[in-house]
Amino acid sequence: MCGIVGYVGKRDVVSVLFKGLTNLEYRGYDSAGMALRDDGEIKIYKTLGKLINLKNELEARKSELKHPTSGIGHIRWATHGSPSLVNAHPHTCSCGKLVIVHNGIIENYKELREELLKKGCTFRSQTDTETIAHLVADEYASAKNLETAVRNSVKKLQGAYAVCVMHKDVPDVIVGARKHAPMLVALGEDENFIASDTPAIIEYTKKTIYLEDNEIAVVTKDRVRITDIEGNEIIKKVEILPWEPAALSKQGYKHFMLKEIHEQPDVIRNVLNGKLYDIDSPIILNEVKIDKEILKKLNKIQIIACGTSLHAALSGKYLIEDFAGISVDVEASSEYIYRKTTTDESTLVIGVSQSGETADTITAIKQAKAKNSHVLIITNRPDSNMARLADSLIPVNAGIEVSVAATKSYSAQLISFYLLAIHLAEIKGTLNKEYLKSIKHELIKLPSKIEEVLSNVEPIKTCAKKFSSYKNFIFISRGINLSTAYEGALKLKEISYINATGYAAGELKHGPIAMLDETMPVLAILIPGGITYEKILSNCEEAKARNAKLIALTSSNDKNLESIFDVVIRIPEINEIISPAITCVPLQLLAYYIAEYLGKDVDQPRNLAKSVTVE
Ligand code: F6R
Repeated sequence: MCGIVGYVGKRDVVSVLFKGLTNLEYRGYDSAGMALRDDGEIKIYKTLGKLINLKNELEARKSELKHPTSGIGHIRWATHGSPSLVNAHPHTCSCGKLVIVHNGIIENYKELREELLKKGCTFRSQTDTETIAHLVADEYASAKNLETAVRNSVKKLQGAYAVCVMHKDVPDVIVGARKHAPMLVALGEDENFIASDTPAIIEYTKKTIYLEDNEIAVVTKDRVRITDIEGNEIIKKVEILPWEPAALSKQGYKHFMLKEIHEQPDVIRNVLNGKLYDIDSPIILNEVKIDKEILKKLNKIQIIACGTSLHAALSGKYLIEDFAGISVDVEASSEYIYRKTTTDESTLVIGVSQSGETADTITAIKQAKAKNSHVLIITNRPDSNMARLADSLIPVNAGIEVSVAATKSYSAQLISFYLLAIHLAEIKGTLNKEYLKSIKHELIKLPSKIEEVLSNVEPIKTCAKKFSSYKNFIFISRGINLSTAYEGALKLKEISYINATGYAAGELKHGPIAMLDETMPVLAILIPGGITYEKILSNCEEAKARNAKLIALTSSNDKNLESIFDVVIRIPEINEIISPAITCVPLQLLAYYIAEYLGKDVDQPRNLAKSVTVE
């Protein structure tokens, strides 16, 4: 969602804030701003749209700045109040001495606003954030201490927040606080940072302290003091970030999305590393901290996730049920949290999330924990809030994912589900040895097969060009690739804004077939050798009879397919059960090239944010 970075120290403050915001850019935003302490004043700069606008604004007004010594910066993804200059952060109190940036949603802001209006505060924006600015200023008037003022204020807030506050009368001090929204402090020599996510600071230091809910940090150039909501000082663990700044560069690719698609073979090698040694050895998954005897009897799993992670979860359901015979429910976190579930202490609850910060999934996980379920988290961010809630944690090690559209993290989640499903099957003894060996063999060969796909993108590019002018698509499949069809459709709609729907091929004739004509291409994923191929082929014939243009994504060598399909995209031969790990790649590329042909903003599609930290 929004991104926050704050800095106090010896470096050029504008550059540090600007670099930090640039590295958070991938999260999506509609406006940006900075508040700088300079020459005894606090100076505010805001612009709408891309960060380059803020850069240009600062450049144009650079004569106003003498030597800034601290500052806070923000990129906003509008929730309360439209994207506009007046709603952009930082916000100020009525007299302008106090500035604040905020990520999250304050649920009781209307009540607080009423009270503050009665006290004579002048509101300028439609945001919930401005309420916090007035509230802290009001508290500061009596407390005369910024930390106390922030503490007293956040006690009155309901909802989610990560805030950074500066005050004209408290030079070079940034006070940060958080609840249900991520925030970290990063430590340097004669300088310190505060930010909503690690990419903002990775260029400068790897030493970080993650704030927990209800903690408050006071950050100056040479000290960081962290206290709980009652003001008791807390000594926190300093963690060393595992990433290099290079992870944030495109390394010659036109977009992060393309780079991340191409990283997938290595990502898969990484996920398998140390867990799958050879076809004769059992999977090693020490991350699952449940006694083997309990796992043997386990008969209920619930998986909760959102978006692309939800699609990986659907594949996970298929695999765990198929390999280990354990019943699995999959549900969107946003639905799970608002109903009576059957989750109990004998349920294994699996949360899947690239960012580990998705608010709906975090709430769902907390609810499951309250029911005493064992919570296993599969995430790309072992440093995230969700990871900290885990009883068992499987980090997927895909490396930082910058493009808003998830690609390599999806592959890494998928492979983690293969490992988990095999691990459960091995404990329960539900699969025969030869079958297990063949699956492991296929998994080991996956990276090189994906490399084959990535070295032959021309047919996908051609297909993208041919179909980029269509306004609607249907993606169909059956069985293990149904979730791939959902994911392929999601990739296409989110980066090209083409209406695309994933559908169970057998369901086509129960309604959607009514929409089919020459304007509605149908993309079918069909892998021979399994139980679904012939059936999907018949479903494609039904679509063809309605004049739909047909695209096949297949590992079949059957030359007759060319007489049925308008385009055939071929992938290497693969066992159907393993195929989603390959079929997702051409679909990512197809979405990418269509968006490219349409001139869309591939890495930062409109209206989207990389990590959705509000419910
Ligand atoms: C799609 C996409 C989103 C996320 C969803 C969940 O490409 O990125 O649909 O998958 O917002 O995010 P995480 O996985 O971070 O919980």
